Amino acid sequence: MKDLLAVSDLDRAGIEAILDLTDHFVEVNRRPIPKVPALRGKTVVSLFFEDSTRTRLSFETAAKRLGADTLTFSAASSSVKKGESLRDTVQTIDAFGVDAFVVRHHSSGVPSQVARWTDASVVNGGDGWHAHPTQALLDAYTVRAHRGSLDGLRVAVVGDVKHSRVARSVIAAFTTLGATVTLVAPPTLLPPALDGWGVTASHDLDAVLAETDICYLLRMQLERQSEGLVPSLREYSARYGLTEARAARLAPKALVMHPGPMNRGVEIAPEVADAPNAVITEQVANGVAVRMAVLFQLLGSGTQLDVLREASDA
Ligand code: NCD
Repeated sequence: MKDLLAVSDLDRAGIEAILDLTDHFVEVNRRPIPKVPALRGKTVVSLFFEDSTRTRLSFETAAKRLGADTLTFSAASSSVKKGESLRDTVQTIDAFGVDAFVVRHHSSGVPSQVARWTDASVVNGGDGWHAHPTQALLDAYTVRAHRGSLDGLRVAVVGDVKHSRVARSVIAAFTTLGATVTLVAPPTLLPPALDGWGVTASHDLDAVLAETDICYLLRMQLERQSEGLVPSLREYSARYGLTEARAARLAPKALVMHPGPMNRGVEIAPEVADAPNAVITEQVANGVAVRMAVLFQLLGSGTQLDVLREASDA
């Protein structure tokens, strides 16, 4: 596999292989020196045209812990501001001799376009409303770590599904791994048609809480909404916000998840975000290990997993 552009690039066995590989990197990350030389000599570039805190830093941390060199491109301080095209930007960076691009862009399809312009590997770090595959993989890993498997789990994805690349990738990964997914949102925040999504939809959060094992909350993506899709954030929060009272009605052992960035007090009450069954910071921690697994799988050909053991003896 050269690129990871969407969860649909992987079948169930492919997803499970990455999650199994992630176990090794979780172990590496627990060591006093959380580094292995698996990708020494490789160069990973993060090519980010849209704001990011956790995704960019997480990929860069992952690359560094594998011994790769990292380059950071940020559109706001680049020659894009002088009118340079996307293709010229990619070819310029490619000419340095890089091994992987991690691409985030506000337009859907940009990572697959970049993949056609370069022989380097391309990992989608989030494109428009389309996909964010490593987010879904780290979420699946986090659920698996707590519940053993996703098979038969009932997942509610609550909030602005319409504008969410995270939702699209989470739905693809979780259903492929055997979970059932219900989307919960007002009609204006659901995609117009759900044929082929393999999910059901509800407009009533209170009605689904008791049958929810995983409550996955989404941020209101106000920057992607062109019109007033909810009367006000206060009303949205009153009907769809996960308050302490609502969280108490989730199924036993339920987990509360959020990809970040959170808007505390809108989609999630601060007390719920900080409760023991909220695994939001674990998601972030697992993200580094999952991205190590993805980079290792794409770039590590010829390197055996033995390299992990050798490093621990060293
Ligand atoms: C999200 C994103 O940018 O796709 N965050 C993330 O990468 N964890 C979700 C969001 O912006 O709400």
